[in-house]
Amino acid sequence: MKRVLSGIQPSGQLHIGNYFGMMKTMIDYMEHADLYVFIVDLHALTSVQDKERLSQGTLEAAADFLALGLDPERCTFWVQSDIPEVCELMWILSTQTPMGLLERCHSYKDKVAKGIHANHGLFAYPVLMAADILLFQSDIVPVGKDQKQHLEVARDIAIKFNNTFGETFNIPEPAISETTAIVPGVDGMKMSKSYGNTIPIFLDDKPLRKRVMSIQTDSTPVEDPKDPDTCNLYALLKLFAQPDRLQEIRNLYINGGAAYGYIKQELFELIRDYFTDAREKKKEYLQNQDYLKEILHKGAAKARAKANITLEQVRDRVGLSY
Ligand code: ADP
Ligand code: TRP
Repeated sequence: MKRVLSGIQPSGQLHIGNYFGMMKTMIDYMEHADLYVFIVDLHALTSVQDKERLSQGTLEAAADFLALGLDPERCTFWVQSDIPEVCELMWILSTQTPMGLLERCHSYKDKVAKGIHANHGLFAYPVLMAADILLFQSDIVPVGKDQKQHLEVARDIAIKFNNTFGETFNIPEPAISETTAIVPGVDGMKMSKSYGNTIPIFLDDKPLRKRVMSIQTDSTPVEDPKDPDTCNLYALLKLFAQPDRLQEIRNLYINGGAAYGYIKQELFELIRDYFTDAREKKKEYLQNQDYLKEILHKGAAKARAKANITLEQVRDRVGLSY
């Protein structure tokens, strides 16, 4: 069975881009993979520097995953900082990481270009991510398209390490779902916590409706034909509508008659209904935080045992065991 691993940052409310780009894919893998899922609080520290926000965000992200259907009995599910071994591996990998490899990373360059004050953690972010992936000898790493380059960095580091010290790490493959590769936000740009354009998964009805109604559309009159494939609203509808209904709406776009207001109302109802059960379950987890923490601690113990197998080998290969 393939070992599939991915993590998510607890740096804000999780949104439907996170859900379709990563969370759903991971939950679906539970059926046929040796699955590793974790909340990357150490990565989130590069942008969240607020104790309450980080610790509460971590518990919420964990509750989100469980509420959406992740079963901790059928996977390994933990919080990154509960396994300090990952930081040791990160340091060792850092010594195998050329500066140029990190300097080329779009994610870092974009953030700097946006005026975000870069700290060393942000620069070294892909090395910590490589440590996450390589520590567990992952075969497949499902991520959104924006993380593809980070995966390439992890592969490059693994190859370099193996060449220098002998075969140690499995070389991971990315898994990027093309249909949901990039979920657009309400403004048509990539939906992202950092752009303030998200539709959070667990909004209450009223704010959810308001958010859906704020999806930007053009000002073509209702009766005029429109191109569904360039429409932000249609791209979001595609994720939730049944195929028959989607085809009907597609025809309205192409032949004229698609009224954005009605379609938004329909999208709001679809999103609300899709997540109804999960919303209830999330509340239950958050009301029972001791239970939630127990799940995470058990997961960390399971993951740590696996992590130590790799780390001992690594220490030995590089000469840190004497
Ligand atoms: P954000 O951009 O909101 O901060 P993250 O960078 O924490 O999101 O991404 C968490 C996971 O969700 C990653 O696997 C990422 O590729 C995926 N993801 C984030 N936004 C989207 C999106 N708009 N479409 C598809 N996948 C996404
Ligand atoms: N960088 C990833 C993101 O923001 C999160 C992440 C950290 C991750 N470590 C990982 C994803 C390891 C996959 C594998 O989305």
